[in-house]
Amino acid sequence: MWQISRSLLLTVLALGAMHASAAARQTQPPARSPWGRAGEEAVEIYTLTNVHGVEARIATYGATLVSLKAPDRDGHLASIVLGFDTLEPYLTGVPYYGAIVGRYGNRIAKARFTLDGKTYQLAANNGPNSLHGGLRGFDKRVWKAEMLPASKGNGVRLTYVSAAGEEGYPGELTAHVVYRLDDQDNLEIDYQATTTAPTTLNLTNHSYFNLTGDPRVPVLDHVLTIHADRFTPVDATLIPIGELRPVAGTPFDFTTPHTVGARIGAADEQLRLGGGYDHNWVINRTGPGLTLAAVVTDPKSGRSLEVRTTQPGVQFYSGNFMDGKPAGKGSVYSHRTGLCLETQHFPDSPNQPAFPSTILRPGQVFAQKTVFAMRIAK
Ligand code: GLA
Repeated sequence: MWQISRSLLLTVLALGAMHASAAARQTQPPARSPWGRAGEEAVEIYTLTNVHGVEARIATYGATLVSLKAPDRDGHLASIVLGFDTLEPYLTGVPYYGAIVGRYGNRIAKARFTLDGKTYQLAANNGPNSLHGGLRGFDKRVWKAEMLPASKGNGVRLTYVSAAGEEGYPGELTAHVVYRLDDQDNLEIDYQATTTAPTTLNLTNHSYFNLTGDPRVPVLDHVLTIHADRFTPVDATLIPIGELRPVAGTPFDFTTPHTVGARIGAADEQLRLGGGYDHNWVINRTGPGLTLAAVVTDPKSGRSLEVRTTQPGVQFYSGNFMDGKPAGKGSVYSHRTGLCLETQHFPDSPNQPAFPSTILRPGQVFAQKTVFAMRIAK
């Protein structure tokens, strides 16, 4: 009798303890705090956490994903994106670490496009081309932010109104970006935009992933799959030449898993032009909606990231221009210590009518979604 009630008591105690620890790890409401100033403007940082301790920090400067802590196979948390602890390095011109890039992410050839018969001139900030929105793109603007009501999930909604004519683009564009973290370890990024006049846009998040948890370790041993049978080969200035080229038989074939480094040094004209991988892949899709575009895994830590998106393309950039500068507080990011998977429309779409359209007109709503799903590799 005593035996039975004793084991019953232990069970009750154990259940109680489990319940208490689950309650203690309940999803925290998003926290916000001041994060310095960009000129006259106050910058804030928002922190989203979930039941597993996954934590996303988002700054209103550039709507930037500053850190994203995910567990390894032993439960150790570390950030899987490169970033800085303070605002200062972001203000000194870092290469888009974690930022939302726009109005047009990626390149526009000769910094010029024609829309409805009118030609628009942009700043050439990347050789002859326009890159990532120009001299002061969305990554260098302070966004307005508000926490999502709990009924809409654990998240923050950021808004930026880009004036007509800003950086040469027509139409006043209102952009909303929502970062939402759920208890299944998915970080969803939701994009919406409207315009007052016809314009072109391409919004993406420019996170540099390093799943090892140690930003000094190059990403060459990360194992990558990209669900794309074709990519868009480029010219010497990294503008697509208009072809959708099959990846089969080339170092661009990631339809089956390969390490980033396995073929990066191969004698291949496209790799030579990009200084490594810096190309747009045409995601295989059977219809609209979210589809799995890429999976990247660090076999050592077991951290794995699935990238799902509604977008037609993904730019895989292997950090070829990373040169150890600038040095944020103790963080020096060296050659190929981060890789980007920028879900997007194809580069130079405004000049390439055969590519899916990036035109937005008054009355239309631009809507895209990308999910970074944090998983443990089997
Ligand atoms: C994108 C581009 C690269 C490079 C980085 C930022 O990924 O395609 O060529 O400009 O952004 O350094």
